[in-house]
Amino acid sequence: MIESTSPAATLPDRSVVPAVWSRYTDLVVERGEGSWLITVDGERYLDYSSGIGVTNTGHAHPRVVAAIQAQAAKLLHGQQNIVYHEPGLRLHERLRHLLPGDDWQAFLANSGAEAVEAAVKLARAATGRPAIVSFRGGFHGRTAQTMALTTSRVSIRGDFEPLPGSVYQAPYPYCYRAPGGAHDPAACTCDWEAQLELLFAQVVAPGRIAAFVVEPVLGEGGYVVPPRTFLPRLREIATRHGILLLLDEVQTGFGRTGKWFALQHVGVTPDVLIVAKGIASGLPLSGLVARRDLLARWSPGAHGGTYGGNAVACAAANATLDVIEDEQLVENAHERGRQLLDGLAAVRRRFARLGDLRGLGLMVGLEFVRPDGRDPREPDPALAHRVIAAALERHLIVLSAGTWGQVVRLIPPLVTTPGEVDHAVAVLVESMEAAGA
Ligand SMILES: Cc1ncc(COP(=O)(O)O)c(C=O)c1O
Repeated sequence: MIESTSPAATLPDRSVVPAVWSRYTDLVVERGEGSWLITVDGERYLDYSSGIGVTNTGHAHPRVVAAIQAQAAKLLHGQQNIVYHEPGLRLHERLRHLLPGDDWQAFLANSGAEAVEAAVKLARAATGRPAIVSFRGGFHGRTAQTMALTTSRVSIRGDFEPLPGSVYQAPYPYCYRAPGGAHDPAACTCDWEAQLELLFAQVVAPGRIAAFVVEPVLGEGGYVVPPRTFLPRLREIATRHGILLLLDEVQTGFGRTGKWFALQHVGVTPDVLIVAKGIASGLPLSGLVARRDLLARWSPGAHGGTYGGNAVACAAANATLDVIEDEQLVENAHERGRQLLDGLAAVRRRFARLGDLRGLGLMVGLEFVRPDGRDPREPDPALAHRVIAAALERHLIVLSAGTWGQVVRLIPPLVTTPGEVDHAVAVLVESMEAAGA
């Protein structure tokens, strides 16, 4: 806790912030530099949360800061219905080249949830179909429509029923927690496809479904990497039934998984790619990149917003994309992710209660269990919580995930160095020891 002699003592009490923001730390930070956060007391913390997967270029990257400052001095806000502006035009042009081919167009909004909402509205308008299918354990946001799509944890949605209807859930292949037993995703025996067919036969006919909404790796749901066959097969099923594939890459995008987008690991092309978080290094910006013929089905005024494509946020995004390219951060995410996973795999056997270790690029999850229970995979959120607290005591910030909070997730900035990764692994080993893993 912060002492009364701390500079924080001159600030308003932290209770001014409502408790609905469940908290990982009580730190009052003054600034960030690269992978590090620095408190008002001058304490340095290695930030392997990246503000929940946002600060991919690290905190306060000088090129991003300079672009924000330069744009702020020229134009803060040029509303999309009223004018065009340079950073916005440049960003729209760049985003439409993220996916292969020349048939894409971007629509910009502010938050991840807002972009998912936009994608659902677009899918319904473009197909004339009412229903949406999302996948169990997925997280898509906290607005009414996105809560209806979300099933990562009941606390996200449980107190807010009734939620918008005509949203149905199909199982996501979570190989560690498969009903038939934990198995290697490379030899997946999850019956997700049979369950989806059953959904079509019992609940909603495929001809009534506008879209599948799916994360390529479950984020809040526990950093679950599905088998490589999952998305390509889902793409085939979608195409067969005229269902649009909306890929929610809000957390996996912009280099996070060691490719620009996770879809590139399996060569899948969606109909709509949903982006946010890492796009602008911390300024609120999100969007979708959709097939041009779909966006043409939205008549002028069918969707919009006051701030979507804000000039300063667009300038930050253009600089972010430059930094990711010029500093080869996608490659670094791949290499540092490998180093992190290998470093943890090397010590894994020392921790009987570390049930599963998995990841893709710089998205790494450690799932904690009680192996002596009736099911050796019984989730152990208390242990995950202790590991996170022990890491924080050692000045490493990591987060939880998973339905029960049983997963410790690591989301380092893509600029993280080999030395920082080694340090984080050492701290995690100490923290697991201290927590009794
Ligand atoms: C996959 C995914 N989709 C959507 C969202 C919602 O984004 P936001 O919090 O910006 O609304 C998140 C946020 O964590 C996410 O991880």
